Amino acid sequence: MGFQHLTYPVPLRPWAAEKLWHPAWKGQSAAIVVPVVNFTQGPSGLAYCPGTGLGSNYEHYFLVCDFKGEGGGIHSLSVRPNGASFELVNPAHFIWRIPATDVEFAPDGSVYDCTWNGNINAQSKAYIYKIIDPRVSGDPLVAKTQRAIAGGMTRRNETQLTQWLGHPDLRVRREAQFELVERGAPSVAAFEGALQHQTNTLPRLQLDVLEAAGLRPTLKASVARYHDGLNRKGILAPYRETLAGGNAIAGRKIFQERPDVSCVRCHKIGNDGGDVGPNLAGIGQKQPREYLLESLVAPNAKIAPGFEGVTLTMKIGTLHAGSVKQETSDELVLNSPEEGFLTLRKSDITDRQRGLSGMPEGVGQMLSKRDLRDLIEFLTTLK
Ligand code: HEC
Repeated sequence: MGFQHLTYPVPLRPWAAEKLWHPAWKGQSAAIVVPVVNFTQGPSGLAYCPGTGLGSNYEHYFLVCDFKGEGGGIHSLSVRPNGASFELVNPAHFIWRIPATDVEFAPDGSVYDCTWNGNINAQSKAYIYKIIDPRVSGDPLVAKTQRAIAGGMTRRNETQLTQWLGHPDLRVRREAQFELVERGAPSVAAFEGALQHQTNTLPRLQLDVLEAAGLRPTLKASVARYHDGLNRKGILAPYRETLAGGNAIAGRKIFQERPDVSCVRCHKIGNDGGDVGPNLAGIGQKQPREYLLESLVAPNAKIAPGFEGVTLTMKIGTLHAGSVKQETSDELVLNSPEEGFLTLRKSDITDRQRGLSGMPEGVGQMLSKRDLRDLIEFLTTLK
């Protein structure tokens, strides 16, 4: 408050002198959270779309006021993860040419904004506008959300609150969660159940919370029970929390530098690396995260075309294992991890067995869940 009354020149405090408000620049302190972008004119309203009502068209979007006196308005914008930070996506005008100072999503599915009336004296009044989308006003989910918020949480039973941990509206999820926490120990079972059964819990949070909870003596047993439950649900279930939220830069480092898993020994990305496995350039575009996870922890579940392993027994008694790269009626070219490319006469081969994936079983198990999460994030960036 009061920037209009400053006496110039203003002394450079750390905020300005150390460029703390600048987006990433060379020489920046590594100790600060780096601003994503400089956007809008300064301290005015900011709201995150809760996911229902007018907000359902703006899921994962923010509304932010850009107060410029007579001009300006409200922007909508979203962000997507970029390394350990974010980048700005899809900025647009939500409503423009009004001097809005604040904005909020209302439980009835509308958006309210508070608008300056152009007058600078302290007694003058402002306007409150309500912005509605007629297409969502009849949406039963909006009515339900409104009732849930209006009724409060304290009189709800645990079954209801647990169900609401998966509610499409952020505000209902959050209130239900706070109420369960407030009730203490009896709620642990509810959270456990939600972790097991709900599909929309944020995976990143899951891994971090589970790690933290596993270190607390009071929660250790619950976390162990949770992991046991998942182990019985198939090979990928225990790894579900590695699917999203990793750090692609850390993942690249593992891919290129970790000697025990040596991904680069067998895989190229573009031009560098080995030929035993498929070139992974573009894999992030071709395959969903679940496939990438499966490739790492259960390589034999699906084998990339052209990479099925074979074991060949030769007339003279030697064995060669690898994958068939080319085959004609009398010759085949075998790519063997041990011996490189071998051209073999088919008449010299006495037995041919389909083998396992050339990707060693157990590579995934040598990595921690954090490493897997980072690797998967890295692989999705290979577009
Ligand atoms: C000893 C060689 C070897 C090593 C080491 C290896 N891979 Fe593989 N990988 C393969 C082969 C061969 C295939 C193809 C067969 C298959 O799909 O299982 C493959 C398949 C894959 C696939 C699926 C590709 C597709 O197009 O379907 C991914 C993803 C992958 N590997 C990632 C990795 C990562 C990440 C590492 C390091 C943690 C790694 N691999 C280490 C040999 C290897």
